[in-house]
Amino acid sequence: MAKRTIVKMPGDGIGKVVLEETIRVLEAAGFEADYVEGDIGWEFWCKEGNPLPQRTLDLLEKHKIGLFGAITSKPKDEAATELIPELQDKGLVYSSPIVGLRQHFGLDICMRPCRTYKGNPLNFIRRGPNDTIEEPEIDAIIFRQNTEGLYGGVEWSNPSDTVYYALMTHPKFVKNFGKTPREEISVSTRIFTKKATERILRAAFNYAKDNGYKSVTLCEKPNVIRETSGMMYKMAQQIQKADFPNIELWNTNIDAQMMWLTKNPENYGVIVAGNMFGDIVSDGFAGLIGGLGFASSAQMNPDSGLAVFEPTHGSAPKYADYETSIVNPIAMIVSACAMLDFIGEKEIAEKIGKATAEVIAEGKVRTYDMMKMTGRPDVVEKGAASTQQMADAIIAKLA
Ligand code: NAI
Ligand code: MG
Repeated sequence: MAKRTIVKMPGDGIGKVVLEETIRVLEAAGFEADYVEGDIGWEFWCKEGNPLPQRTLDLLEKHKIGLFGAITSKPKDEAATELIPELQDKGLVYSSPIVGLRQHFGLDICMRPCRTYKGNPLNFIRRGPNDTIEEPEIDAIIFRQNTEGLYGGVEWSNPSDTVYYALMTHPKFVKNFGKTPREEISVSTRIFTKKATERILRAAFNYAKDNGYKSVTLCEKPNVIRETSGMMYKMAQQIQKADFPNIELWNTNIDAQMMWLTKNPENYGVIVAGNMFGDIVSDGFAGLIGGLGFASSAQMNPDSGLAVFEPTHGSAPKYADYETSIVNPIAMIVSACAMLDFIGEKEIAEKIGKATAEVIAEGKVRTYDMMKMTGRPDVVEKGAASTQQMADAIIAKLA
């Protein structure tokens, strides 16, 4: 088989180091690929007025598989002031390149596995009967609709006549907001389409079926958000009944789910939600398995086969310039394993996954987060592993 070309997009801050270390692990595990670099992030916003240049989109279009580190985002007013002088006053408006990437390629299926690693000192524990301590094993995967809903970008402050008068046709708008001066109103829409909703629901059910999960939990709020969550729930019921009779459909509200996930997280398997609630519930579960140093993410468009794999953490600017990098590369490494799975390199994915699990279980090499230290330049002196040392430890277990 011809060698794969992977578009590596380090982005900003710690995105650069976690990606570099991950590629080192991939190479040590015997994954043969060529890497081309895709520009993305803050530097390109400031220099070019575009954090996601067309040349990066072209590379992804061509090679289909991306590994992404993280980017720095800032509110649009602040972003405007950081443009180079030549680009100031050109009316450029900043928007997140990663949200842009998802929408451009229709990467509407986002998968975020949250699985306990044995021996991770950050694992969630709870009090059991008679003052016992329990450490439930979590094996959840969140399917997040990745392109619509509150991230759709259809929003206004001080809406125009057309928008305002359209809203005024809704009796609840008139009743609840009709007396508020228009310039004091901001509106963010939550648009769900049947097509995208069906795609994420089917992705979740198919995953459950193929991987032996007994249930799919829809985590929305259909009792209150009747149109969007309501539509999703109704569609989930229909799809379950017609095509997945052996898989149970559970329905939880996002607020209650956030409470239950510290009560009985081991009861959940496949979870499916719209964009915002999927983001929230996946961060909640990630917190139970070690937090941002462990939370991975895959986003894909099954029609085109285009997929981008990334840790869920951001660029953590405060750690970006440390002489010795202290951040945990595992979230990025696990994301790369999802990439390997996706392109059919399951053996190498398993090898890396097993090596990572062994390092965590052994407990000799731990980054600062795993040692519950505050992130500071001296943590390595105090016994925490650096980013490189963690990658080295995983590489040493690959044999
Ligand atoms: P963040 O995820 O960058 O960092 C939050 C904190 O989590 C860090 O200060 C650190 O204590 C911890 N942390 C993050 N990654 C870690 C790792 N690999 N190992 C150990 N500890 C880790 O989120 P924050 O500070 O809210 O945002 C920083 C920048 O990143 C912002 O500009 C934000 O917009 C951007 N961001 C980008 C994302 C992306 O590229 N997908 C996602 C989230 C935030
Ligand atoms: Mg998030």
